Amino acid sequence: MPTPLTQADFLRIRRFMYEASGVDLSPSKHAMVEARLTKRVSELGLRGFSEYWNVVSAPESEAERQHVINALSTNETYFFREPDHFSWLAEFARANQTPGQPFRVWSAAASSGEEAYSAAISLTEALGEKGAFEILATDINTEVLKEARSAIYPRDEVRKLPPNFIQRYFLWGRDEYRGMLMVAPEVSRRVRFQQINLNQCERSAIGLFDVIFLRNVMIYFNPSTKESLLAQICDKLKDNGVLVISHAETITGLNTPLVQIRPSLYRKRNNNE
Ligand SMILES: C[S@@+](CC[C@H](N)C(=O)[O-])C[C@H]1O[C@@H](n2cnc3c(N)ncnc32)[C@H](O)[C@@H]1O
Repeated sequence: MPTPLTQADFLRIRRFMYEASGVDLSPSKHAMVEARLTKRVSELGLRGFSEYWNVVSAPESEAERQHVINALSTNETYFFREPDHFSWLAEFARANQTPGQPFRVWSAAASSGEEAYSAAISLTEALGEKGAFEILATDINTEVLKEARSAIYPRDEVRKLPPNFIQRYFLWGRDEYRGMLMVAPEVSRRVRFQQINLNQCERSAIGLFDVIFLRNVMIYFNPSTKESLLAQICDKLKDNGVLVISHAETITGLNTPLVQIRPSLYRKRNNNE
């Protein structure tokens, strides 16, 4: 067993996570950090976290730094989480389609893909299988992006969906995939996955979006990170485009070009407002 995580080890990892991802680990996360990284320290045959830090901080250790980010990000998500957002999305897309242009949605902290596929199902329902829409789904965590691209989920994950959705939009697994479901290719091909660090998203040439889902990620950021993130996110919204945050989050008091249209939904002001 490696030696326990000291306060100095914790502070180094905390600073690294903050600088790399904006995630601000509070002191109460000490035990979580230790639990999630101890296995890795043992796997590498190291005696403790200060040796591990030497590995992580070496210039050539890009893959190990990604490992820390993957291990310490919290990825809880599920299909149709906060279902009113998806019924609203369907309505909004129907009312705001522009001829000749796809309706564009960005799931900006997509985790293992359930949010993006829920949006794809809702837009297929709203605009039809041949409807003009596209979805970009991004996350900083490379492990969850692999799961998302596979589009395969345990049966339990979809158990709360209406049976007709399961029948229409999922395929049952066979043999080694027994007990699993795969998102049907007509839906999954509408979603493109990419690694993007939200705190550097101004550098990504991903175009402008009608709707951006930024749900259940700002809770890990402090107010100044939130404000700078929202400035970058708003630059990726079309005028009158809508930012969707979680009902559990707030952006009240932050300086943004957004106007609230409903709880958790914010429209970007256009140039004449
Ligand atoms: C709790 S999940 C939210 C998933 C989904 N949006 C939902 O509401 O169900 C938070 C996600 O944010 C991602 N994340 C954290 N910091 C990030 C950053 N700087 N850039 C991109 N993604 C980040 C994590 O990897 C994680 O997958």
